[in-house]
Amino acid sequence: MKLIIDGANLNVIKELYRYFPIDGVTCNPTILAHEKRNPYDVLMEIRDFIGPNDELHVQVVSGDADTMYEEAHMIRKRLGAGTYIKVPVTREGMRVIKMLKKEGFPVTATAIYTHMQAFLAAKAGADYAAPYINRIDNLGVDGIREARDIHDIFRNNHLACEVLAASFKNVQQALELAKYGIGAATISPDVIEGLVRIDAVDHAVSVFRKDFEAFCGEGANMKNV
Ligand code: G3P
Repeated sequence: MKLIIDGANLNVIKELYRYFPIDGVTCNPTILAHEKRNPYDVLMEIRDFIGPNDELHVQVVSGDADTMYEEAHMIRKRLGAGTYIKVPVTREGMRVIKMLKKEGFPVTATAIYTHMQAFLAAKAGADYAAPYINRIDNLGVDGIREARDIHDIFRNNHLACEVLAASFKNVQQALELAKYGIGAATISPDVIEGLVRIDAVDHAVSVFRKDFEAFCGEGANMKNV
């Protein structure tokens, strides 16, 4: 399962890249608006930092297919041909996915709440389908089960599309999906930090150090004893 940052703050992205095995960055129009700068300035800095090979997923904003298609071309022109175009799976969005796949764009079908949206997007050639786990949970439906079902639908129909699960509220949800072997999870920075924020681990490591220093002296370690 690829681990992707759902965010657009460059400092936060840099910090997470220093510590974690990150495969790329996704964002949506709301996340970009929070940066309060020109969206392309933000995105070009992210692209420069992560390089041409890590995944960058950028969403179109309009509601009609023709304008979404033009947005996709502008995104590709400014951020590179490897940039995944995130297209919400509305009726208009379905048409855009078909148009973009004909031209070889990498496409992430997003705002997925139902199996049917995912199935249709995958059949139209989308590379990823992004179900919104937490938002599906909030509708009274099990988001994790939906994501697993979508993964199964793809495999059982020999569709190359991968699940890119989004909208997590805790690390357990991400681990459930890793266990199932879905393609990728895009996770907000605070939830990624939570992957290793375990008090018991910190306690165990501090006891190791205390015991060692009690015998070898304060500040002792395997470099200076
Ligand atoms: O990018 C879409 C998805 O990540 C939304 O997440 O946390 O706003 O439900 P959230």
